[in-house]
Amino acid sequence: MKSEKILVLFVLLPIVTVETGVFDFFSGIFDNDKLRPFNSTDFEKDLRMSLYGQNIALNTILKAVTWLMKDPDPPKPLVLSLHGPTGVGKTYITKIIARNIYEMGENSKHVHTLIATYHFAHIIEFPKHEAQLKAWIYGNVSSFPRSIFIFDEMDKMNPHLIETIKPFLDYMLHVDRVSFNHAIFLFLSQAGANMINEVALDSWRKGKERDQMNTQRMETLLYQGIFNDKNSGFWHSSLIDEHLVDHFVPFLPLERKHLKQCVLAEMTSLNITHDYDVMDSVLKDMPFFPPEEEAFSLKGCKTLHNKLGLHMKL
Ligand SMILES: *[C@@H]1O[C@H](CO)[C@@H](O)[C@H](O)[C@H]1NC(C)=O
Ligand SMILES: *[C@@H]1O[C@H](CO)[C@@H](O)[C@H](O)[C@H]1NC(C)=O
Ligand SMILES: *[C@@H]1O[C@H](CO)[C@@H](O)[C@H](O)[C@H]1NC(C)=O
Repeated sequence: MKSEKILVLFVLLPIVTVETGVFDFFSGIFDNDKLRPFNSTDFEKDLRMSLYGQNIALNTILKAVTWLMKDPDPPKPLVLSLHGPTGVGKTYITKIIARNIYEMGENSKHVHTLIATYHFAHIIEFPKHEAQLKAWIYGNVSSFPRSIFIFDEMDKMNPHLIETIKPFLDYMLHVDRVSFNHAIFLFLSQAGANMINEVALDSWRKGKERDQMNTQRMETLLYQGIFNDKNSGFWHSSLIDEHLVDHFVPFLPLERKHLKQCVLAEMTSLNITHDYDVMDSVLKDMPFFPPEEEAFSLKGCKTLHNKLGLHMKL
């Protein structure tokens, strides 16, 4: 098994190293796109200031990323699968991670995003994509080991392509002095979102603070939810079977108070003084569910920015 994986990588090797060698020489001289010294205190502060209502995700990601960043010789890359409804901070947290690792943050050329439905919409061309995907990951990690790969809409990804990336996620020996173990893979999807909503609603009805929700139990439920969901491509793959994902991270639906925090933060970033009347009218304009209780925002914080435009006194 192991030797097969290494063999596959060896075949790709000659193509990549020549190109990146020349590239490295020039980029080394004028490169502003560097790693920042990682500081877990700053990372934690950034997470706590910027992310609302996602303490389970926050704590898991804080520990997992810090653990990787502090390890000079990690045994495998960090693989996190982020799950939850839309607009609750999954993409946002990838930006927070990036800006704590790279000087150029999310704009760093070492942050690679792939959207399943956009980049691999034509399943017919699958063999070509398979080779491209391999070369893409191999090429970038060999020229810059601390690379981040974000796979958005992972649940819609072709299961064959998931198979393709598996060798990169596993415990692996170094290949020609290239180690994949400093890389971070982030899988984003809505798989399991219904289950997350149910658990959150149940807890809300019992009047429990969401911070007291049991992280371990949530991760187990999520794991089972995805595993049993025949609709998500994820289910087909042996990613789960082979335990290549280090953590399944749930993102909960947002409550009214979190939306208020989002509106105020938006006002701050637009440099306008906090206007609570405007905040209230923006919130009235947002849909909540379930209809009887209106516990959670249907769209999270996603459309708030544009809604704010409608309610500002110009
Ligand atoms: C991390 O940043 C804090 C300030 O935010 C500073 O006090 C601390 O010394 C830094 N730690 C390291 C290891 O640089
Ligand atoms: C690295 O990734 C970028 C975009 O994410 C891609 O354009 C480039 O071809 C990749 N490099 C290699 C050597 O595959
Ligand atoms: C925000 O306002 C402050 C003070 O009025 C000003 O110095 C700053 O340039 C403004 N920033 C933006 C992004 O408009």
